[in-house]
Amino acid sequence: MKRLAYIKTFGCQMNEHDSERMLALLEGCGYGGTQRWEEAHLIVVNTCAVREKPERKAYSILGRLESFKHKNPGLIVGVAGCVAQQEGERLLARFPSLDFALGPGKIYHLPEILREMERGRRGLCEVGFADRPSKDCFLSHAKRLRAYVTIMEGCDNFCSYCIVPYVRGRERSRPGSEILTEIEALVQMGTKEVILLGQNVNSYARSNPHELTFRQLLSKINEIQGLERIRFITSHPKDFTEELIEAFARLERLCEHIHLPFQAGSNAVLERMSRGYTREEYLAKTRKMRDVVPKISITADAMVGFPGEREEDFAQTLDVLREVEYDGLFSFKYSPRRGTRAACWEDDVPPEVKKRRLEFLQEFQRGITLKKNKELEGEVLEVLVEGCSKNSHREMMGRTRCNRIVNFPGGSELVGELVGVQIREGLPNSLRGELCR
Ligand code: SAH
Ligand code: SF4
Ligand code: F3S
Repeated sequence: MKRLAYIKTFGCQMNEHDSERMLALLEGCGYGGTQRWEEAHLIVVNTCAVREKPERKAYSILGRLESFKHKNPGLIVGVAGCVAQQEGERLLARFPSLDFALGPGKIYHLPEILREMERGRRGLCEVGFADRPSKDCFLSHAKRLRAYVTIMEGCDNFCSYCIVPYVRGRERSRPGSEILTEIEALVQMGTKEVILLGQNVNSYARSNPHELTFRQLLSKINEIQGLERIRFITSHPKDFTEELIEAFARLERLCEHIHLPFQAGSNAVLERMSRGYTREEYLAKTRKMRDVVPKISITADAMVGFPGEREEDFAQTLDVLREVEYDGLFSFKYSPRRGTRAACWEDDVPPEVKKRRLEFLQEFQRGITLKKNKELEGEVLEVLVEGCSKNSHREMMGRTRCNRIVNFPGGSELVGELVGVQIREGLPNSLRGELCR
């Protein structure tokens, strides 16, 4: 019987992609994937350290797996991701039945670790960063309609609240030629959409004058025959240039969606966060973007309760929401991260105030998102059909270029197709429509 592996993923798309890569590596070691952890022979918890909540959840799962493993001594349990990078050996000490800890820079060591375990070794720890990002080419050859492609790893920005530079290391960019070859190979295997990944994609190859610029890389990808859509995530507002804004108007495969985290609306808070832009600069960029590409969908991340955030500061965050009218927003309560600069400052916004501000912000944004979704009613949008809808087997689900999820009546023969769907209803988190024949 084939051995089964279950991977629980927390955190960003980079972690999701790492989980895909780990699964591909495990397939090479004779494992199959499963969605049911109870039947797995190997469980990996791929952790995120960016905020307290996902970190706490990972610890709670690791705790439960301790007792599960006592009952199933043959089970292999490993921890990966950014908590593994940060805590390493300490995790192994805290959870004695953990078999291995693997940092994000070392996932390609997974087969070796399994071989070591066959020799009876336990408690293996591999952390640290590679000099250059690892190739993605060990991905399995299964068809991926939408495929992640790492273009750079790490971050040099050191926003005062953020753990990422410590757990993902300094910025490293992959050679452009390697990225292009990989995308060509993915397209040959059936990929229609690529999502270029990096903590700050617009600083791609910033320090290497011999490499393509990010804008040039986008142009080259846009020329790949058979590829239909290009997206990238995440962009930093300070590095978001006019040239890049123009790219949205010029490159026909580049989808009309940009994720541009703003974090806070008050200049005093932005300054303490070391974000490197003012609210005015940020707003000027979003305005310019809507001037150049009126239909562009803009999403962002925002935080409430950063040390020293007063009601007036928070009101300015709401003002940004009001002015930009985001198509969608991810919002969080600030939580101090050990080792960051902000963690040395008093976390002086009381929990109940953080909670109130977050709830208010989210309610406010819900109204805007719904309004924006309703504005799409009547329009015919291009949808890349991904599979059956979650709600009904008679319905299909796909994504628009502006990154909305659309459900519409249709059959599975449409999977992988680009179809026109007329939007009938804008809902809080998705759209409903009808196929145009
Ligand atoms: N590289 C991306 C974001 C990475 S982290 C960028 O620069 O935008 C994803 C989001 O988590 C951030 O945008 C921020 O809103 C949030 N975040 C990061 N550290 C946090 C902290 N200590 N507390 C609360 N939210 C945090
Ligand atoms: Fe963190 Fe800032 Fe880097 Fe984003 S840009 S990963 S928020 S340090
Ligand atoms: Fe989390 Fe690590 Fe991504 S801390 S957000 S999984 S880079």
